[in-house]
Amino acid sequence: MKPIDRPRIVIATLVSSAVVEQLAARAEIVNVADRPRGELFEALATATGLLVNSGVRVDAELIAAAPRLRIVATVSVGYDNIDIEALARRDILLSNTRGSLIETVADLAFGLVIVATRRLGPALAWVRSGAWTSKAAPFGHDLKGATLGIVGFGAIGVALARRAHVSGMRVIYSNRRQRTDGAVTGASYRTFEALLGEADCVVALVPLTSETRGLFGDAAFERMKPGATLVNVARGAVVDTNALVRALDAGRIAGAALDVTDPQPLPSDHPLALRDDVVITPHMGSATTETRERMAFLAAQNLLAWLDGKPLPTPVDIAAG
Ligand code: DGY
Repeated sequence: MKPIDRPRIVIATLVSSAVVEQLAARAEIVNVADRPRGELFEALATATGLLVNSGVRVDAELIAAAPRLRIVATVSVGYDNIDIEALARRDILLSNTRGSLIETVADLAFGLVIVATRRLGPALAWVRSGAWTSKAAPFGHDLKGATLGIVGFGAIGVALARRAHVSGMRVIYSNRRQRTDGAVTGASYRTFEALLGEADCVVALVPLTSETRGLFGDAAFERMKPGATLVNVARGAVVDTNALVRALDAGRIAGAALDVTDPQPLPSDHPLALRDDVVITPHMGSATTETRERMAFLAAQNLLAWLDGKPLPTPVDIAAG
């Protein structure tokens, strides 16, 4: 393939100056990160490449505003914010940053498993309320001997299972397909329904698709063990927020620790945000200085590879969805 001469790349997500400079050596850069969406539309009129993250909506309208667009590189593994059918219709390439954040997200996921299992939400609220001067703190449960149910068992799930085993947890998982490496992962397969009835803490790690949207609804919460907890480090819309509030209100489940919410960002006066039994972090599974830099460089490598007519390091197979 012939290398492309001085193309225009639009950067629509905050990345370090080192990443911008790397791209600027090869392309004209228009940086509209954190700028109003209208400026992104304007910049795309002559753009050939686009750098985004999971917070930028790349819908059919945006793609239509970019008649010369050939490649979108997202600084994320998930790409549910991107209309891949609209990209496919124009043969526009897509890359993500898979492989660059596995351990980092597993760390946060395990942190939230501890938060949920040890009931740190009520404990923090108890300290803030001033009750520490009198009664005993609310108790949580042991991780050792508890069952962790991981829904969506890819590389991050396996890394989470490793951490859980160190704490003496039993690990079960559900997945689109049953894995054959149980001897390595130490995790046993269950159907989604069976997992819900058996796990003390359920962790959502599935990508957001038409099949997983609202996966955790009333029926799922009904099936969960009384007193179990939910951790979501996937996408907010995997959980039906109203159903979650109903399950918590009814005491069906004991609490939740959420790195992602629906809506996102969550308004500070939202019923979920005001609860002591729910701990919320601001979609920061991969948000460490090192990992975000690694992700941004990988996204840039994909753009540069395309500019040089080389295979992308981490392409998304759009046809496979
Ligand atoms: C991902 O990579 O998909 C993370 O959720 C950050 O957006």
